[in-house]
Amino acid sequence: MRVFLTGGAGYIGSVTSELLLNEGHEVTIFDNLGRGHREAIEPRADFIEGDLRDKDSVADAMAKVKPDAVMHFAAYALVGESMVQPEIYFRNNVVGGINLAEAMLANNVQKIVFSSTCATYGQPERVPITEDEPQRPQNPYGESKLMFEHTLKWYQELHGMKPVFLRYFNACGATETYGEDHDPETHLIPLVLRVALGQRESVKIFGDDYDTPDGTCLRDYIHIVDLARAHILALEKDVSGPFNLGTGTGNSVLEVIEACREVTGHPIPAELAPRRPGDPARLVAGAEKAETILGWKPKLADMHTIVASAWKWHQAHPNGYGA
Ligand code: UFG
Repeated sequence: MRVFLTGGAGYIGSVTSELLLNEGHEVTIFDNLGRGHREAIEPRADFIEGDLRDKDSVADAMAKVKPDAVMHFAAYALVGESMVQPEIYFRNNVVGGINLAEAMLANNVQKIVFSSTCATYGQPERVPITEDEPQRPQNPYGESKLMFEHTLKWYQELHGMKPVFLRYFNACGATETYGEDHDPETHLIPLVLRVALGQRESVKIFGDDYDTPDGTCLRDYIHIVDLARAHILALEKDVSGPFNLGTGTGNSVLEVIEACREVTGHPIPAELAPRRPGDPARLVAGAEKAETILGWKPKLADMHTIVASAWKWHQAHPNGYGA
């Protein structure tokens, strides 16, 4: 299929481009290079530099490419930043999304695989979280993703679009070529590995008094290659609607740090710090729907496998893509 892929210079978009091309799909990446990296753009893909907030830019690109489907990764994704500057989240993630959807409608493109998030659920009532859990986002980032889910749901009903919402849990790990390089970096695994690289003295543990077995937060860490595989299944199958993408297993902050110690052989000093505002104690996916309907099962769910892939990439790119 010919895929119009936004955000291909970013973490999840670059890995999904790589896998799509490996499987024989055609990919055109549309990215403004605002937060992504030129070095993360798959050289086998076509590249259009453009901004989703510029309606004409995305409309022209869509008309030129005439894709069979869209994969939409481009977005701002920092929860903390969204609490300080909500307006850039609504403009980029919602207005940008609407411009993309209108360009699809104008060119009769129906299928869109959209990067949504478990942040649309907020503080869940039940864990593992299934797709019918009430969506009550606790921050503008999650709200902006939910608003675009709702937009696409109406375009499905009224215009016959086929949207798939992939609600990711904690994306992590790397391929040989592409890995995680955010600025600022806020995610646990890359921050822990910076200690092993000698770039930081220690890692902070944000709270150890949560209602979890070891008192630190539980998250569902999902390997980026497993995530990318789910996108390709969602593209190729005649499906629509929401799918949680996680392993169904939670790892605590302490477990992640311990796995990093074992993989890197570095003692990785850790210090206790206050809770980070807004962190739910447990976010674990109920991912049976993705298994039943997409035929998707994570293959790289083991924490050591995840950390080893990330560690290999960070050793090869100690300063990220900027090296
Ligand atoms: N953590 C630490 N120390 C750090 C960094 C993180 O203890 O230096 C903890 C956090 O408090 C959390 C866990 O490690 O308990 C994971 O934190 P991340 O920042 O790596 O990931 P989050 O679970 O906060 O964020 C993820 C996605 C977001 C998404 C969110 C939904 O990255 O995009 O889940 O809540 F919005």
